[in-house]
Amino acid sequence: MSKKYYSTKVTAIGGQVADFISAAKMIIMFEDSMALPELRDACVMHSGNSLQDMIKPGDIYKIGNEEFKIIKVGSEVQKNLMNLGHITVKFDGGAGEVLEGSLHVEDKPVPEIKVGDELSICRAAEEIADGTWLGLKGKTAVVTGAASGIGKAVAQAFLDNGANVVVCDLNPNEPEFHTTETSGKVKYVVTNVTDAGSVNEMVKTAVDTFGKIDVVVNNAGINIP
Ligand SMILES: NC(=O)c1ccc[n+]([C@@H]2O[C@H](COP(=O)([O-])OP(=O)(O)OC[C@H]3O[C@@H](n4cnc5c(N)ncnc54)[C@H](O)[C@@H]3O)[C@@H](O)[C@H]2O)c1
Repeated sequence: MSKKYYSTKVTAIGGQVADFISAAKMIIMFEDSMALPELRDACVMHSGNSLQDMIKPGDIYKIGNEEFKIIKVGSEVQKNLMNLGHITVKFDGGAGEVLEGSLHVEDKPVPEIKVGDELSICRAAEEIADGTWLGLKGKTAVVTGAASGIGKAVAQAFLDNGANVVVCDLNPNEPEFHTTETSGKVKYVVTNVTDAGSVNEMVKTAVDTFGKIDVVVNNAGINIP
């Protein structure tokens, strides 16, 4: 199942919208209450700005049930959609210049847009399943104090999202983690974070095992009452 993280309903359609679609393969979205009178003729007005994730290439822009893969995301798109419900959607396949307020999506025929239609943005199901949407797939995270408690939960979350995890702990008992086909891999290294030699050994083992370290979660610690 894909994750829908933005949804809005079309409330009004400006008189020039059909021409923009046929001549320039683009639509201009504006949240209804934000659209200035002189701009309304050019815009698709809609009801909502509640954007609950970062828009990124590979996600899906939808007009009703019609899907368009997002190819490029202008630098102001996230902010403008949240603040004004205002972006330009260009159905250009990402060809040409990336404009800061534009979402560039797949180049294919644009359906007629009607009042009441849903416009939405989703993350593809396979990206959720393999963790790529967090950008952690293939990354290496070192989590100290990961044999129990918070550290163990953090290590599990990295694994679930496709990262390889170096589990470091004083505790010599190797903790158990749930793994699936899409999880990262675990390397357990007995480490004392108060001992520089032990930490150096752990870093060497981490790099020998996974090639690099991308993230360190410095969690090990003790509670002194
Ligand atoms: N649990 C809380 O309410 C709470 C509140 C504030 C801060 N913290 C801090 O969060 C961190 C995790 O807390 P937790 O509740 O999961 O604790 P925890 O005791 O369940 O886990 C801590 C882990 O760190 C390991 N560890 C301790 N000293 C180490 C060392 N020198 N080298 C390597 N590993 C070492 C322990 O073996 C243990 O597995 C700790 O730093 C703790 O001080 C926890």
